[in-house]
Amino acid sequence: MMDTIRELEALRARIAGWKRDGLRIGFVPTMGNLHAGHHSLIELAQRHGDRVVASVFVNPTQFGPNEDFSRYPRTPEQDAAGLAAAGTDALWMPSLATMYPYGADKAVAIRVPGVTEILEGAHRPGHFDGVATVVARLFNQVQPDIAVFGRKDYQQLAVIRYLVADLAFPVELIAAETRREPDGLAMSSRNQYLSPEERAIAPVIHRTLLAMRDGIRAGRPRAQVEADASADLHQAGLDPDYAVIRNPDLSEPATRDGSFVALIAARLGRTRLIDNLEFEA
Ligand code: PAF
Repeated sequence: MMDTIRELEALRARIAGWKRDGLRIGFVPTMGNLHAGHHSLIELAQRHGDRVVASVFVNPTQFGPNEDFSRYPRTPEQDAAGLAAAGTDALWMPSLATMYPYGADKAVAIRVPGVTEILEGAHRPGHFDGVATVVARLFNQVQPDIAVFGRKDYQQLAVIRYLVADLAFPVELIAAETRREPDGLAMSSRNQYLSPEERAIAPVIHRTLLAMRDGIRAGRPRAQVEADASADLHQAGLDPDYAVIRNPDLSEPATRDGSFVALIAARLGRTRLIDNLEFEA
């Protein structure tokens, strides 16, 4: 039976009991509106931990003023049913006042330097500070031994790795593979904003990532591969913020061999989609 917990005291008591019994706590933080991709994160947490806590909290501090905080889909009953079916032991659903006791605008905030300033960080100023701030709070609340994050949010994972290393959180991070629809579109809560016409176009993002990988493997110049990717996205009706090849640490590649990641962020109508593909060249 999954417990839905809304008060910090109750969460702490539950976690303390498990820790007394020597159980390892696996944690999956989410903003709700869960899909099969999230459920696979729960499975991964189960494999690495003895008890699984999932959180659902739509975090206002990671949304910019013109972003979709108010229209972000909130489906708590459906989320709870899906998490229970996936074998979650406790669902942590803090209120805004529990997460930010002094108010979100007066919160102690965390700023991760460097990796937050490029790509997503450049297009969404303050976004990763909001993510780091809430993840640090969630880690203090849940005190997990392991935490699972999806590889789809590639740069977010890099930010959280930095956060955990720099603030010495005793949390082991597990990266989960991106789950895709049969046509290649990465699963995302934002996909449901797409009109049927936009949904039909959206898989071009994954196809473009594959073409970028193939272009690099075929020895084509990186700048050309990136320019062609942007042109292909435009042609399909998307408005790309970036389509780039980076080293795994998101720095600019200086060599043609080794491990790389292709990353795309693009607007399709009013919806902004991101995806990436890790590959060897
Ligand atoms: O990836 C997400 O869903 C969110 O950014 C996270 C990590 C739950 C923080 O709000």
